[in-house]
Amino acid sequence: MWRSVKEVLGGTEAAKGLTVQGWVRTRRDSKDFSFLEINDGTCLGSLQVIADVGIEGYDQIQGMTTGASVRVVGNLVSSPGKGQKWEMQATAVEMVGSAPEDYPLQKKRHGPEFLREMAHLRPRTNLFGAVFRTRSRLAHAVHRFFEERDFVYVHTPIITANDCEGAGEMFQVTTRPAGGNDQEDFFGKTTHLTVSGQLEGETFACALTNIYTFGPTFRAENSHTSRHASEFWMIEPEMAFCNLEGDMDLAEEFVKELTREILEGPDDDFGLFSRFVDKGLEERLRFIVERPFARLSYTEAVEILEKSGQSFDYPVGWGENLQSEHERYLTEEHCKSPVTVYDYPEVIKPFYMRRNDDGKTVAAMDVLVPGIGEIVGGSQREERLEILRRTMSREGLSEEAYGWYLDLRRFGTVPHAGFGLGFERMLMMVTGVQNIRDVIPYPRTPGVCGP
Ligand code: 4AD
Ligand code: MG
Repeated sequence: MWRSVKEVLGGTEAAKGLTVQGWVRTRRDSKDFSFLEINDGTCLGSLQVIADVGIEGYDQIQGMTTGASVRVVGNLVSSPGKGQKWEMQATAVEMVGSAPEDYPLQKKRHGPEFLREMAHLRPRTNLFGAVFRTRSRLAHAVHRFFEERDFVYVHTPIITANDCEGAGEMFQVTTRPAGGNDQEDFFGKTTHLTVSGQLEGETFACALTNIYTFGPTFRAENSHTSRHASEFWMIEPEMAFCNLEGDMDLAEEFVKELTREILEGPDDDFGLFSRFVDKGLEERLRFIVERPFARLSYTEAVEILEKSGQSFDYPVGWGENLQSEHERYLTEEHCKSPVTVYDYPEVIKPFYMRRNDDGKTVAAMDVLVPGIGEIVGGSQREERLEILRRTMSREGLSEEAYGWYLDLRRFGTVPHAGFGLGFERMLMMVTGVQNIRDVIPYPRTPGVCGP
């Protein structure tokens, strides 16, 4: 009977006649038997297999080198060795696929930079196996969080004709013949990969009340940092009858709940992160889960930065964007906790954010966390038709193209709000992994598009 290594290692009693399949991590031979360590990626741990000389298939043992795939049949017995409860006494071993000497993942521990060059093999290492199992866990936790709160999961489109963030950082989708115009294009107009599902999400919130999207988003942004990818996943809830405060509350609850899921998870993967990736990880995550986030208005944040006495690379001043160095100072040095910054200047934010009564700021908010900076960006949306119309015309957005968006304000308009959480940045936070390229299976960054 086939069993995963995870099932076998987590078992409660000895068993006979089990089949395990996986890849050889190491093999040691002695006179009477060989020791195989087999990993199948279902968990961090590997199964120790003892193959006595002369059992069925033992003549193939020399081929079972690091990286080879094998099938083992045997009995599960309690292990006298330290660190593991069970080991397998093989009755038969079988080679499935060999891995010659040029298999790149030999015993030596490789760093993430080296492994990034072989994204197709790195999931076979302990670190990346743990990262991608954690990614899967976190995705399930996202859906659970919203399902428990009656949010409807909406699949917003990937191909779109609008630019939600208005930053013009979009990848064009086209079948246009060389020299052709946009009418000759596939959709009869210019289209792009989405930068955010928000605008379409708003239309569903204004029908189903509470919704969320969770999908890939694309930005042709020439940012060469450890926190930017050109393709990344974003979770975007949108709530009707909700203001900025409700939005900030949900974002905080969400970040805490996802953190708790990883911190209190049942598996060994978190242990690997806190022992080998970031020794301060557990303490930092406990702090995030247990304490309220700080809240500062943008104006207060700028005052704090101006008085900080720090020499920043980018200037600080009211009306300037907060750069990552500013965000990290606020969260790591000043507040020493996650901080939600709200009410940003209108001039640095997209058209859809709700204008505040001061005439200068909008009801925007960003959640900043230690080690990363911005992890969530959101806002209350402008629900007043005339004000929205004026902003859109100032920004050159045509009523023809965005008529559907204005319709939400024409027909039963409601205060509504939402935010986007960067899924990879969240993964960086809970694993301690420092580079976004190491938490996404196949990273796309400027100039880089591997398999
Ligand atoms: O702040 P952003 O641009 O907000 C929006 O797109 C809104 N439409 C969301 C909404 O209100 N529904 O992006 C949201 C989050 C950021 O806080 C960050 O965590 C992540 O998405 N993000 C990126 N992650 C990786 N690589 C990039 N290039 C990212 N750009 C944004
Ligand atoms: Mg943002």
